[in-house]
Amino acid sequence: MAPLRVVITGGAGQIAYSLIPLIARGLVFGPDVKVDLRLLDIPPAANALAGVAMEVQDSLFSTALEGVLATTNEVEAFTGAQVAILLGGFPRRPGMERWDLIGKNAGIMKRMGELLETYASPNCKVVVVANPAQTNCYILSIYAPSLPRKNITSLSRLDHDRMIGMLLHEANSRLISDSAADGSECVRRLTAADVRGACIWGNHSNSQVPDVSAVEFFVDGRWVPIESVIPDRTWLGLSNSLPGGGNIGVGPEESLVEAVRKRGAAVLAARKLSSAMSAANAIAEHLSDWLSPEKSGHSPAVSMGVTTDGNPFGVSEGIFSSLPVRCTIGGDWNYDEGFSMTDDVRRHLEASVVELEEEKATALKMLEKAEAAAGSVAGLVPRPSL
Ligand code: LMR
Repeated sequence: MAPLRVVITGGAGQIAYSLIPLIARGLVFGPDVKVDLRLLDIPPAANALAGVAMEVQDSLFSTALEGVLATTNEVEAFTGAQVAILLGGFPRRPGMERWDLIGKNAGIMKRMGELLETYASPNCKVVVVANPAQTNCYILSIYAPSLPRKNITSLSRLDHDRMIGMLLHEANSRLISDSAADGSECVRRLTAADVRGACIWGNHSNSQVPDVSAVEFFVDGRWVPIESVIPDRTWLGLSNSLPGGGNIGVGPEESLVEAVRKRGAAVLAARKLSSAMSAANAIAEHLSDWLSPEKSGHSPAVSMGVTTDGNPFGVSEGIFSSLPVRCTIGGDWNYDEGFSMTDDVRRHLEASVVELEEEKATALKMLEKAEAAAGSVAGLVPRPSL
């Protein structure tokens, strides 16, 4: 079988540095799928990119890598790409919100869309990581109009995994301290496979809606509701004690919801660099659930930034939003209609959708301005569904 051609933009960056070994060891597209990797970066990063290529060679990866091309030539990188992992973009610096990146990254995404449209495989599968990720998907969809919209996704798996990680931390602490109090000898630590029903709704921003209302843990051989392990409804964001019925993001102590929303900024403040290892891991999970023959069709519901066109959750159409989906065999996905939204989640999701619509309007304005400045007569050609 011909190798899978995968392009990574921002190939010399931090996330790519953590992601390449996962791909090369067969942990993303499956152990039996050979990958022809194209690492793209901008000319000022050419030396760093060459260094990454040297390290790939020195790592003796033999499982899944068929070949690696490190290049600053966009056409060479995108030609025939069957998967595009878009990491490249202006990065968030400490003190900046992801929103601040719209203007800086809209032009880059326009170019990526044009490259996908002209040079990539017509069925190329795309994951956008560069922020603002969902709005970047929207820009791609305009400039790569032939690409099926369902093929364009953004990463919200990092938020999803952050939430699961925090839930596991809290659940295991409680189970361990309960078993110590009972005098039980040991307790089995829960892992990610022992959690189901979590979802991130909305934007990859401070307005995102981490939702644990349907979460269950697998404890002592059966699935039990989240509150039987973590009864703190306020921390979980499930309390109905406040006017309006819910406390997402409100409360004297940082709730789980606030902690998930701010995790990217917290890592950025601590490392002076954005999350990279955890982002790479989340990309690997996103892609393997979606595309690997071993996992696609067998994974539980996951959070993915996807088109809202035709969604069953009542989210307005014409944007991209994190929603619960189930990946199906052969690289497709469907909305997970089994997820029902509480009134509280719906109310918060509406605010996040308003933000996504504002981001979209801002990005369009900036692109129009740039096109006018460049003297373009083509203008934007939004799709009929918008
Ligand atoms: C993250 O969530 O860590 C990334 O999107 C980087 C950022 O700007 O927060």
